[in-house]
Amino acid sequence: MSYEMLLKATDGFSPTYLIGVGSFGSVYKGIFDQDGAIVAVKVLNLQHQGACKSFMSECKALRNIRHRNLVKVITSCSSIDFQGNDFKAIVYEFMANGSLEKWLHPAEESEEEQNKSQSLTILQRISIAIDVAYAVEYLHQHCQELVLHCDLKPSNILLDNDMTAHIGDFGLARFHLEVPHPNQSSSIGVKGTVGYAAPEYGLGNKVSTNGNVYSYGILLLEMVIRKKPTDAMFEGDLNLHSLSRMALPDRVMDIVDPMLINEEMAATGDRLRQALNNSREECLISMVRIGVACSVESLQDRMNISRVVHELQSVRKILFQATTGFNMQRRQ
Ligand SMILES: *[C@@H]1O[C@H](CO)[C@@H](O)[C@H](O)[C@H]1NC(C)=O
Ligand SMILES: *[C@@H]1O[C@H](CO)[C@@H](O)[C@H](O)[C@H]1NC(C)=O
Ligand SMILES: *[C@@H]1O[C@H](CO)[C@@H](O)[C@H](O)[C@H]1NC(C)=O
Ligand SMILES: *[C@@H]1O[C@H](CO)[C@@H](O)[C@H](O)[C@H]1NC(C)=O
Ligand SMILES: *[C@@H]1O[C@H](CO)[C@@H](O)[C@H](O)[C@H]1NC(C)=O
Repeated sequence: MSYEMLLKATDGFSPTYLIGVGSFGSVYKGIFDQDGAIVAVKVLNLQHQGACKSFMSECKALRNIRHRNLVKVITSCSSIDFQGNDFKAIVYEFMANGSLEKWLHPAEESEEEQNKSQSLTILQRISIAIDVAYAVEYLHQHCQELVLHCDLKPSNILLDNDMTAHIGDFGLARFHLEVPHPNQSSSIGVKGTVGYAAPEYGLGNKVSTNGNVYSYGILLLEMVIRKKPTDAMFEGDLNLHSLSRMALPDRVMDIVDPMLINEEMAATGDRLRQALNNSREECLISMVRIGVACSVESLQDRMNISRVVHELQSVRKILFQATTGFNMQRRQ
């Protein structure tokens, strides 16, 4: 795809088309005149050290991996702009419902975004958590080569039209060839994002599947509790993991996102409502328990991602069973 086509599709990379600023560049919405197709275009900021490497990582991901819960890369563009400077961009499928970050923490967003956040139900959150776990499992176990995303966090989880979650931004991804077997770790200096990066990354900078699971655990806890790991309330020994661990199992309802507790119940009749209410509590406790098991400090003791998938599926089933007879908002 040429520089000219991208320039036109984004109205000259106009601020009104800007939808996000990532680690190594800006992301624009692009609309092609010919067929009205909508895409997301990440323009690499080549002044930023590491942007070029990040571009190569993503292009490599583009060639090798494909999964319904990964953002699809349509093409890339490596060219020269009208001023004669290098220009690199990656074109992705467009995710209509934006990032999970915006749904969880709409404070700085528009009123419209704030309203949206109120409608992320327990069922939606479990489904998003399962989608992300599927993608991580695929990257860890079913790819031709091991891929470590290294930067799992809500702003890198993107939601499409029907709220299916896709992991995006492989700019920090590391690949099998760079990762010595069999401990599946590497000393390449990847730090990820504060709050989500595994504690061992700060010590020896070793990236590993277990490190990815740590980030996943923090993400899961954040989705249930709706507090960022960097929230001002976390100081000293208190963090998202320890707060959750200490609340298990009896005080989980005290720490979860109040919106989940106040969620409307589709059930009518006292007995059904009671049953739904009980299973909701059971589900929230299980989600917190899984998040805690993924984010324990000792990396050998973390739950593996296949087990996470399996357990979250059971959790979703419990909720489904409790709501039998009511509208399933999402695919089975
Ligand atoms: C947001 O919700 C409030 C009340 O629920 C409503 O009055 C307002 O119009 C909504 N705003 C938008 C932008 O949808
Ligand atoms: C997601 O986005 C689509 C398209 O913009 C919209 O129709 C749909 O209502 C959104 N989903 C939710 C849950 O808001
Ligand atoms: C993995 O690393 C640990 C130390 O970090 C070492 O003790 C162990 O032998 C390694 N395992 C394999 C299979 O190389
Ligand atoms: C649901 O259960 C919680 C305890 O988990 C209780 O405080 C709440 O009143 C119950 N709500 C309904 C509608 O039964
Ligand atoms: C994941 O953990 C479960 C149980 O803890 C174990 O049975 C399974 O073999 C593990 N899977 C992998 C791929 O390590």
